[in-house]
Amino acid sequence: MEKVSIGLLGFGTVGTGVVRLITKDRERLEERTGCKIHLEKVLVRNKNRARKVLIDNRKLTTNVYEILDNPEINVIIELIGGVDQAYRYILRALRNKKNVITANKDLMASYGEELLLEARANQCDLYYEASVAGGIPILRTLTDSLGADRIQKMIGIVNGTTNYILSKMSGEGLSYEKALSSAQRLGFAEADPSSDVEGLDAARKMVILSHLAFSIPVKLDDVKIKGITDVTREDIAFAQKLGYTIKLVGISEVNNGDIDVRVGPTLLPNGHQLASVENENNAIYVYSSVLGETMYYGAGAGEGPTSVSVISDLLSVIHNMKLGMTGNHIFLPKKELHARKDNL
Ligand code: HSE
Repeated sequence: MEKVSIGLLGFGTVGTGVVRLITKDRERLEERTGCKIHLEKVLVRNKNRARKVLIDNRKLTTNVYEILDNPEINVIIELIGGVDQAYRYILRALRNKKNVITANKDLMASYGEELLLEARANQCDLYYEASVAGGIPILRTLTDSLGADRIQKMIGIVNGTTNYILSKMSGEGLSYEKALSSAQRLGFAEADPSSDVEGLDAARKMVILSHLAFSIPVKLDDVKIKGITDVTREDIAFAQKLGYTIKLVGISEVNNGDIDVRVGPTLLPNGHQLASVENENNAIYVYSSVLGETMYYGAGAGEGPTSVSVISDLLSVIHNMKLGMTGNHIFLPKKELHARKDNL
């Protein structure tokens, strides 16, 4: 049986979920892939901390180069978050010809195109399904299934924290502050929740989705962003009286050959499917030329859903390795992008 050796960077919530899933489901995953799945090393900040999942302490290291430069390791799973350090680690891993899986939306929204081109130059995979909408397999859907159709517009509820806050303010009449601290306690909010409530997290995810849906690079600076910090319980109650629900949505569409991406609190008619997406759930509503309307709904954050997406990328990487090819969620090189743009 062939073997895949994994180096895991980061042992927080999602890292724990990934180790839990590999340990618990090893037999099924190995049977499915025909490949032995071996967790070689895990990068941690502190080797002596108590862990929520059983792991051989000898696998833990605080030295990232024991992973990135380890010839035994052929897949790196990056779950440390942040931009600069993660960028350097991924670049080094790719240059060392290792396949990379990441859940890092901040990084992929800013440097996705560059890193994907680097992966291609090194004939490696770079997969990032977990970077958008937690457990919903939306990147695969956009690149694989909907690659057969022409996407015209997407509307996404892609931030669980703000959707949770608005749901609680509307359903239970909680204040904004109480709803936010409840989201923080439940662990959906970012370390700095201002990126959630001010719309930046949703904007990053819309950048990634838009790039994949339209094959045109979108810069975060070009996204018009408004968060939910000004939305009051009174606004929500007034909207409800008129038959509307307020949601923080990202909208991405092509107008006259240019992509327009915006994020902001939006009035949705109560009958719209997105209006009934409650709590920390996410949903992406897609309009495409032939298929028409489709919606993808599910858990947008948390240990279990996000680690399922990471493992789905691992299955793709193993599949590609066996075929001796690379797959990636595709960002086309610039020349092709311009050609595609002219044809829109
Ligand atoms: N803070 C993010 C959210 C976590 O609330 O959706 C998942 O990306």
